[in-house]
Amino acid sequence: MLLLHLQEVDEKLWAKRLKKLLGNYKIVTRDDDFNRDDIRYIFVWKPEKSAFDALNNLKAVLCLGAGVDALLTHPHLPQSVPIVRYANDDLTRCMSDYVIANVTMHHREFSRFRDDQINREWGQYYPPPSWDISVGIMGLGVLGADAARQLKILGYQVNGWSRSPKNIDGITGFFGPDQLNPFLEQTDILVNLLPLTPETSGILNYGNFTKLRRRILPNGPAIINAARGGHQNEMDIEKALKDGTLGAASLDVFNIEPLPKNSGLWQLKNCYITPHIAAISSPENGASYFARVIRDHENGLDLINLVDMDCGY
Ligand code: NAP
Ligand code: GLV
Repeated sequence: MLLLHLQEVDEKLWAKRLKKLLGNYKIVTRDDDFNRDDIRYIFVWKPEKSAFDALNNLKAVLCLGAGVDALLTHPHLPQSVPIVRYANDDLTRCMSDYVIANVTMHHREFSRFRDDQINREWGQYYPPPSWDISVGIMGLGVLGADAARQLKILGYQVNGWSRSPKNIDGITGFFGPDQLNPFLEQTDILVNLLPLTPETSGILNYGNFTKLRRRILPNGPAIINAARGGHQNEMDIEKALKDGTLGAASLDVFNIEPLPKNSGLWQLKNCYITPHIAAISSPENGASYFARVIRDHENGLDLINLVDMDCGY
């Protein structure tokens, strides 16, 4: 039996889609009458404190999101039950679309030309070709590796930074804390696609912004954060955008969401704010992913995209 425990998303729609795909497999939601001993899988998003109580026969926790940082802080998360997170082509494609849109925007100095337009100025400046721009991607996992490949196809120089060494065709790999500085020093546009862990928390800070390369983009380097708000120090970003340490920033995620109305970031012309929409686990595509996970596991196959509890992602 599958228990749905989804908050802040359309749980009914997920239930409908999963029922269609799983046929006779029993699916219940919190309001239904059921025996908690019968629950083999729980599908969660922002679970309540009591979500996992008395689920004594749980085989897996299915997490609606790709990022599990919030779930891992749940006070009653069962420690010995595997967690399956979301990783699927549609989510990956959407994230790469977001990254490409923002990288190309900063490469082509969108802020500068927009300003000129507002001031009715004809300021001719010719951005360099993409192969002169070095994009540095922090996190070369499911999302970062795809974004790296797509940017490479567009002609950019692409560097990546990960925890363990990587070998991706055409991408220069850096890894571990010792190689963070050399990675940043070769980066004109920094893209963050790391998971939020104690090691990566606050990594987008003023000190690291000063290490980015300032040679190519005349207004200064740009950052793009599509991972988690906890990665960024928002006061530092504001300061860096004002004093020219950063030329521009694209932020999809924030420490507090929705971003409070009094945040100074809203009014900065070189800050591009989106409301955590870079990529979503949609019921259209997500239901088939999670239905397959359950079906395969019930048929004796291994669970996929498991969270490594020791690494925290
Ligand atoms: P993933 O497959 O787990 O990849 C994580 C990558 O980060 C891996 O390459 C990993 O290195 C690297 N990493 C982890 N800790 C590190 C450290 N301390 N130092 C250096 N590198 C480190 O994750 P994903 O599926 O690509 O997703 C990344 C994040 O995107 C999610 O955690 C989530 O927060 C965010 N996200 C945001 C949205 C949105 O709409 N804004 C949507 C989906 C996901 P190794 O390869 O060596 O393990
Ligand atoms: C969204 O932010 C996710 O983690 O899937």
